[in-house]
Amino acid sequence: MSRREAVVTQTMAGTNRQGGFILWFTGMSGAGKSTLSTAVRRRLEGGHSVEVLDGDEVRTFLSRGLGFTRPDREENIRRIGYVARVLARHRVAVVSAAISPYRESRNEVRRLATEAGIPFIEVYAQASLEALVQRDVKGLYKKALAGEIPHFTGISDPYEPPESPEVTVRTDSETVEAGVERILAVLRERGLTA
Ligand code: ADX
Repeated sequence: MSRREAVVTQTMAGTNRQGGFILWFTGMSGAGKSTLSTAVRRRLEGGHSVEVLDGDEVRTFLSRGLGFTRPDREENIRRIGYVARVLARHRVAVVSAAISPYRESRNEVRRLATEAGIPFIEVYAQASLEALVQRDVKGLYKKALAGEIPHFTGISDPYEPPESPEVTVRTDSETVEAGVERILAVLRERGLTA
């Protein structure tokens, strides 16, 4: 075996010992959940199998037909939580990026993961409403403020911030890179990544 092969084999062995976990982003629309998840995914790839369950994609393929009332959002989160646990059981590093506005739903996902022995790390992507309205990447805040979107998170629907997230990233004042570093530091502290 060449030295390079030996290094690769050793790295793979380390990888295989690495268990799965759920990295759960929460935060309002446009707060940077998708951006942070993609950046974290890039950093984890190589050492882990990574899956990102992104809000918009999930609503196309897994939760099609669900709307934005409280029961529908709760159902959406329950489904994402279930898929996340199934994947994490098979050593996947699962990254969820849905608004998940209700504390109770998030805590329920945390409880079910923890009971299954799956580490659950909550990351709050936080930005002021002013910053979100100003950025308005998808143009949804403008519409929501004009009363054109009922149940819009942060405008005409609640967002309950987490009380004790493992990480809070202030996406209106912190760079993506700095946020990602702090997330990775927590994963390392917990022994979830090298
Ligand atoms: S969640 O509340 O069920 O977690 P999810 O993350 O899946 O929400 O979907 C949020 C995305 O749907 C937003 O980024 C936005 O693009 C879109 N969206 C459409 N209507 C709404 C609404 N009423 N409130 C929030 N987001 C909405």
